[in-house]
Amino acid sequence: MLTDDIQEVLLTEEQIAARVKELAQQINRDYEGKEPVLVAILNGAVVFLSDLMRHMTVPIRVDFVKWASYGSDTRSSGVMRILKDLDESVESRHVLVVEDIVDTGLTLHYLLENLRARNVASVRVVALLDKPSRRKVQVKPDYLGFEVPDAFVVGYGLDYAQRYRNLPFIGILKPEIYAGRDTPPDPV
Ligand code: IMP
Repeated sequence: MLTDDIQEVLLTEEQIAARVKELAQQINRDYEGKEPVLVAILNGAVVFLSDLMRHMTVPIRVDFVKWASYGSDTRSSGVMRILKDLDESVESRHVLVVEDIVDTGLTLHYLLENLRARNVASVRVVALLDKPSRRKVQVKPDYLGFEVPDAFVVGYGLDYAQRYRNLPFIGILKPEIYAGRDTPPDPV
């Protein structure tokens, strides 16, 4: 069973659902009278996006991007490339980036730079999780679900080697699952 690989449940399904609803309510208030484009970062943000958007009452558009690092080590190279770009133009639009977890901050840093260059009306970030202890570049989500400790977490869209995304809760992965590697798994 997938759940056998979990060391500890950090956030239950109920805790996540309650917080996601609160975030959506706050976003609804802030975007009153606007039609934001929710830009979700594939693949990890899809579960969060699908729950968040169903609590949103302002009209929204949805688009997706997928980024990857150059070379094998995301963290040392820090250079990202686009695997899938937005389908529609975001010029003059209010963009809300939907991210599963902010870790080193590199993904968001590059994405925000890239979006700002497209002359958007505004850009903000909603992240479900934040691991501030691992930050390499200064980025801060405008809306945040939960701060988490420096541990590798899976579930609710987050994976290790493409597994565990379907767990309804967020848990810490047992270190023996990625034993033999001296760093936490490279998530991209
Ligand atoms: P960053 O560019 O280092 O901020 O990393 C962001 C991406 O790395 C996230 O969108 C996740 O896909 C992935 N990631 C970072 N930490 C974790 C984790 O603990 N579990 C699963 N994926 C993670």
